[in-house]
Amino acid sequence: MVGAVDLLYRALYRGVLARLPERVAVAIGQWGLRHLPLDRLATFRNPDPRLAVTLGGVRLPNPLILSSMYYDTAILRRAMGLGWGAVTAKSITPGPRPGHPEPNLVRIETAEGPGLVNCNGFKNPGLEAYRAALARLPHRVPLIVAAAGESAEDYVRVVEGLQEFGDLVEINISSPNTKLVYAWSTRPAGLKDVFRAVRGATGKPVIVKVSPDFRDTNEETIIPAALDAGITIVNCGNTRRVDEPRLSQGSGGLSGPAIYATTLENVGRLRARFGNRLEIIATGGIDHPEKARQVLAAGATACGIFTGFITRGPLLARRILDTLQTGKI
Ligand SMILES: Cc1cc2nc3c(=O)[nH]c(=O)nc-3n(C[C@H](O)[C@H](O)[C@H](O)COP(=O)(O)O)c2cc1C
Repeated sequence: MVGAVDLLYRALYRGVLARLPERVAVAIGQWGLRHLPLDRLATFRNPDPRLAVTLGGVRLPNPLILSSMYYDTAILRRAMGLGWGAVTAKSITPGPRPGHPEPNLVRIETAEGPGLVNCNGFKNPGLEAYRAALARLPHRVPLIVAAAGESAEDYVRVVEGLQEFGDLVEINISSPNTKLVYAWSTRPAGLKDVFRAVRGATGKPVIVKVSPDFRDTNEETIIPAALDAGITIVNCGNTRRVDEPRLSQGSGGLSGPAIYATTLENVGRLRARFGNRLEIIATGGIDHPEKARQVLAAGATACGIFTGFITRGPLLARRILDTLQTGKI
């Protein structure tokens, strides 16, 4: 059954979705996610309790996390039944943002396989509207709420507003497609105040999501500042900034297998440097069971995935879990 559904999605992706203009493919894909009751099918899940992990003291039924991209709670609700150990909501800003104009997402074929480049620009409904939406979202698996901002006050406002609806809270200091957030890594001294203020604003476990473009700054300044503030979970990481003339902004964030080697290297480096003081979410380019196995073996506590969910299909989580389960027997 898993093999057949998997083949069907691959044929649909290669034969149809990958040939349509991105805007149309995204609309069809999101319509399907919203309306098809895939989450009712046990095929997408592997409930083996040996796969469970804890992250920030929260039990996840398995170490796979759907990474931040969707804010629509109808999609998040379905995603919670598609095998993930936790689901992350999109980064929310204090006020609503329309995002960057189209084209803001393009497919890219890299030597390592199919990826995406986006300059989404934090399209989101803003804090107040999102609080109302999250209040109606049941948690079949833990929900990670996410915040983005330009100042410590912005982060605190969003974290204070969202934290009651999340099991964990992620602060995004790394998306490359808005100066707003990407610039934090170029003035990391300012992050000390952000981390302290956010840590004081919630009792929930806090995750800092860092950029693969600032390896040394992450290791030398940002992560030590997070640890000093009592934040012990790092998500490495976000997309890599690249020039992309097809996008409305002329540049965007590259995701998918081209950034996987960096993800694997960063996990090993962070584990070696910070030991057990840090819990690590490995995100970037994980689109195959073997890659998930490798990052976990290199010291990751959990794996974040977005692009693989699109390019490899909604059975990716189940396929990875079956591989990880085999390793436990
Ligand atoms: C269209 C799109 C929108 C995204 N939006 C967010 C976001 O709002 N916040 C965030 O932290 N990361 C965002 N990301 C980054 C992903 O969560 C993830 O970190 C990145 O894509 C690398 O993982 P992947 O190679 O598995 O996709 C977005 C990625 C894409 C492709």
